[in-house]
Formats: sequence, structure tokens, C-alpha cells
Amino acid sequence: MMARRLLLLAAAASLAATLLLPGPATALQVGDTCSADAACGSGLHCSACGGGGGGDRICTRAAPIDPATHGTGLPFNNYSWLTTHNSFALAGAVSAATGQAVITQTNQEDTVTAQLKNGVRGLMLDTYDFNNDVWLCHSFGGICYNFTAFQPAINVFKEIQTFLDANPSEVITIFLEDYTAIGSLPKVFNASGLMKYWFPVAKMPKSGGNWPLLKDMISQNQRLVVFTSKKSKEASEGIAYEWNYVVENQYGDGGMVEGQCPNRSESPAMDSKSQSLVLMNFFTTDPSQTGVCGNNSAPLVSMLKTCHAASGNRWPNFIAVDFYMVQ
Ligand SMILES: *[C@@H]1O[C@H](CO)[C@@H](O)[C@H](O)[C@H]1NC(C)=O
Ligand SMILES: *[C@@H]1O[C@H](CO)[C@@H](O)[C@H](O)[C@H]1NC(C)=O
Ligand SMILES: *[C@@H]1O[C@H](CO)[C@@H](O)[C@H](O)[C@H]1NC(C)=O
Ligand SMILES: *[C@@H]1O[C@H](CO)[C@@H](O)[C@H](O)[C@H]1NC(C)=O
Ligand SMILES: *[C@@H]1O[C@H](CO)[C@@H](O)[C@H](O)[C@H]1NC(C)=O
Repeated sequence: MMARRLLLLAAAASLAATLLLPGPATALQVGDTCSADAACGSGLHCSACGGGGGGDRICTRAAPIDPATHGTGLPFNNYSWLTTHNSFALAGAVSAATGQAVITQTNQEDTVTAQLKNGVRGLMLDTYDFNNDVWLCHSFGGICYNFTAFQPAINVFKEIQTFLDANPSEVITIFLEDYTAIGSLPKVFNASGLMKYWFPVAKMPKSGGNWPLLKDMISQNQRLVVFTSKKSKEASEGIAYEWNYVVENQYGDGGMVEGQCPNRSESPAMDSKSQSLVLMNFFTTDPSQTGVCGNNSAPLVSMLKTCHAASGNRWPNFIAVDFYMVQ
């Protein structure tokens, strides 16, 4: 299993040791008590996360093992990518609309640029029409308010474009929780410079077949996969309707019940074979910077196994978490 389907763990403490590539003999491993990042092995940092009280810090995995270290010759649906839930909703964010702190939940600590540098390859973004533009917003009722508005989407799209420019072998997937009208997103995607990386809907397998090989997506420079939650946009704008291609379990607390991996309401059944990609949500309804330390460890691995079984023996291709890294 590990050879082919890489499990990407966020702050995995207890079980990640089995997933590690061997590091220098002297470097501390996942779960070892540490005092500084430098003491921990490659891909680890010294974090209070899961330190078990007493102020101890432990070596914690923040950057996943790059799936491409196992080669790029498999279909895209044979890889697993670390994905951030509400990638744009940064703790302490100031709304670009008001200049004041946003009044809404936040789900990550570092910028999308930093997330990408740390190996995140799936981004969940909520897009809204706001101020005559498309904004990233964490709101309710499909309407963005100035106090729930983070920033114009183009800013983050340009961060993604900069990363794809600088890293010609990397593939990024965006999941849009999309509240925008027809016509809004194409303008922003065009203006962001991302269209040159667009993976066309026409190449996505329609009835559960394999995706193109990762190496072919890279060589053809079709390195941006975008899904929208709005069905009509596939025909009208060429943005793939997520649930034609992806099955997804329940998000929030409903997706954290041990031993269960129910589909979210919009998704086909987890074992539907008409979709070739599996996304596993694993985060609590109320995001918690302290709670993730425990949850993104053994419980996450347990849920991977549960969702693997529920999804017709397929490992999740996208593992979506809150606070994938906690400073
Ligand atoms: C790739 O994924 C397909 C579909 O889940 C599976 O049948 C196949 O065994 C996988 N191949 C490898 C090499 O892991
Ligand atoms: C936010 O929008 C409301 C109207 O919906 C307005 O009254 C208020 O001044 C705005 N706040 C800021 C800081 O722009
Ligand atoms: C986006 O760019 C394409 C190609 O340049 C163009 O055909 C299309 O009209 C543009 N769409 C929008 C909404 O600007
Ligand atoms: C997906 O889950 C919802 C409950 O949220 C359920 O009503 C629906 O029937 C499920 N779809 C399938 C195909 O199982
Ligand atoms: C998971 O997160 C919840 C909410 O923050 C927390 O109460 C719970 O203790 C966490 N679970 C583990 C195993 O740490």
C-alpha cells in the first residue's frame, strides 16, 4: 500500500513514523521531544502540537512526502495529496474590505504560498461575487459580507500561478465552493495567468476510468485541475463539476465519527465507481488549533482506512484538513 498510495499526513505524530523515509541517523523522528526545528529530521518541525502537556515540544510532520518520489508514471488518481480546507481563511486575517479582523471562522495559519511550499497540493476555496469582483469569503447564505470577506480571489490565484511558474513538475487541484454567477470566474482566471495551466474537462474520465498519467499532465503543462460545486458551469464555462469526477465524505463533525465514512449530500455514494477521485474531509465543525494536533494523528489514519473500505478499496486522493501545520 505505501509503495503506491502515499498517505500524506498533516501533523501526524503517532503513526507517521511508518511513513517516513529514513532520515539522518542523528535526526530526531516524529514524536521525539525536541527544542528546535533543526534537531528534527527532514520534513519535520519542532511543535507544541500533541506535546502531551508539560510544555514539551515534539518533532511533527508538517510537509508531506512528495508522492512523486515514487515516480510520476501512474494515473493521477493513484496519488494522494495533502489538501487544506478553507486554504484562504487564515487565523488573524484582516479583511481587505474593512481593514479589520474578519468575523468568521478561520482554518489555517499560513499563506497559500507557504502551504504550497510545504507540499499542500489541494486547495479548497470559497468564491463569492462581492464588490464587483470575485472574493474569497467564509460566509453564509451564499452572500459575502464585508466582515466575512478575506480578499479578492485574484490575489490567491496569482500566488498559485507564481508557484506553478516556479515549479514546473507540480500539479495543483482547486476545489471551489462556488457562489459566483456565470461569467465571474473566467474573468478572474484569465486575469490571473492561470489559464495556461488549465487541465481541460474534456480530458477528465467520465465513467470512472483512469486519469492521465501524472507525468503526461506535467509534460503537457496541464497542471491545474479545477472543480466547482456549481453544476451548470461545466457546460457554460468549462469548469468541471466536482461530483462528476469526485466522491467526497461528509465534512465537519459528521465526517469525524470513527468507523463511518458517509458521503456528503452533494456527492455520489463513496463507492460509486463513476467517479475516479476520492476526497476525504477530516476536520471538526468548529476549527481548533489545539484539537487538530490529536485529530490529525492516529484518528486521521484510522479514518483513511475507514474511507478506503467505504470507497470500494480506494485510498483518498485528497486528504482535507484544518491547520495542516500549527506553529
Ligand atoms: C490505481 O488505482 C486504480 C483504481 O483505484 C487501482 O485499481 C489500481 O490498482 C491502482 N494502481 C496502482 C499501481 O496502485
Ligand atoms: C460594511 O458594510 C456595511 C453595509 O453593509 C457598512 O455600513 C459598513 O460601513 C461597512 N464597513 C466597513 C468597515 O466598510
Ligand atoms: C478569457 O480569455 C479567453 C482567451 O483569451 C477569451 O476567449 C475569453 O473571452 C476570456 N474570457 C473572459 C471572461 O474574459
Ligand atoms: C449522500 O448523503 C446524503 C445524506 O447527506 C443522502 O441523502 C444521499 O442519499 C447520499 N447519496 C448517496 C448516493 O448515497
Ligand atoms: C479533535 O478535535 C476536537 C475539537 O477540537 C477535540 O475536542 C478532540 O480532543 C480532538 N481529538 C483528539 C484525538 O485529539
